[in-house]
Amino acid sequence: MFRAIATSLIAIVTMFAMLAVYLQITLPRKSEAPNINFTLTPEMKERGVYLAENVLVCDDCHSQRDWGKFGGPIKKPQGAGRGCVTSEVSLTGRLRDENQFSGIAINSEDYFPEYLCVPNITPHPTGIGDWTDGELLRAVREGINIDDKAMFPIMPYHIYRDLTGLDALAVISWMRDLPPVDEVAPPRQVKFPMNVLVNRWPRPVFAVSKPLNADDEVEYGSYLSHQARCNYCHTPRWGQTLEDSPNLLMAGGVSFMIGKYAVRSTNLTPHEDGLKDWSREAFIRRFKSYEDYDSNAVNTWMNWKAYSGMTEEDLGAIYAYLQSLRPVPTPGS
Ligand code: HEC
Ligand code: HEC
Repeated sequence: MFRAIATSLIAIVTMFAMLAVYLQITLPRKSEAPNINFTLTPEMKERGVYLAENVLVCDDCHSQRDWGKFGGPIKKPQGAGRGCVTSEVSLTGRLRDENQFSGIAINSEDYFPEYLCVPNITPHPTGIGDWTDGELLRAVREGINIDDKAMFPIMPYHIYRDLTGLDALAVISWMRDLPPVDEVAPPRQVKFPMNVLVNRWPRPVFAVSKPLNADDEVEYGSYLSHQARCNYCHTPRWGQTLEDSPNLLMAGGVSFMIGKYAVRSTNLTPHEDGLKDWSREAFIRRFKSYEDYDSNAVNTWMNWKAYSGMTEEDLGAIYAYLQSLRPVPTPGS
């Protein structure tokens, strides 16, 4: 009897050890950083600024934010990095204490990652100054950093992998043109099992299976809204994963803490809880109304200021896409 138990224990331990070795060898899945040789047109550069600042809102994470102002517009210097993601700020963006954005790092007690700082992505040697375009492209779309390590998926590379190649290169040119800032982010500290699990997410982008048809408004609106991460806040997560709950796409109801206050994202489906009665014009106007808005009265987690710079055509495409969704009531309401 004792021997049988001992044998099974040894078998189980061996299995786990083999699995660990297997994961160490095969993960993260990565390809060589590509050798890129491209000439940027002025149009591409302009698109890069537009995408990075008004659609993909890279700044939202990679800059300090002014949480005393409506929607937390970014503070200069742009792209120089931000405080650290800790127990105070979770994956879904729970913000318990506004002071964390002072740039002071906080250690976590009850939430992963233990310590993850959003790095400087300006073209200074302490930022991305020494990275090649290929390394940047691989980082943004595949989640592998310059040291060949898996990046933490708070950096939404699993979303940016669907960026068209041209759009991704345009965004890289935006990083290269930022004013360089000397700012070293403390190295990340992620404990077991997260330090192993983090290797699961990166995946090489081999080829775009279906090219984007930008002339199809709903398809283009879906692309923009996916890349702008509207669903990241407006769709409940599937359990503890990074995935959207499939039946609740854009159904809203996700809670965010801003200091002591909770704010819930709204329903963006064509349900009566959501945008059923909204005209295209009203939708566009709502965004555009924040272009020159300067208030410290109310606050929200949504960076209206950044999104207000989207073109009316692009906002219209997002509207068309949202209206094409299945209407669902807001969960928990
Ligand atoms: C939701 C927050 C978030 C957004 C949005 C975001 N990033 Fe990141 N980014 C991170 C975090 C966190 C890391 C660090 C990941 C790690 O080290 O494991 C990171 C890392 C990086 C790195 C690697 C830098 C280094 O020194 O290792 C680059 C390059 C980068 N991001 C570029 C971008 C670009 C370009 C965009 C917009 C297209 C963007 N990021 C949007 C959170 C974000
Ligand atoms: C970081 C989280 C976050 C992101 C990203 C985000 N939202 Fe929001 N959104 C919210 C929250 C929270 C609210 C409710 C508070 C408010 O009105 O600002 C909201 C409100 C709205 C409203 C107002 C609805 C109403 O009934 O008044 C619209 C429209 C909207 N979001 C559309 C979008 C679209 C489109 C995108 C993508 C381009 C987007 N949001 C991205 C969090 C987010």
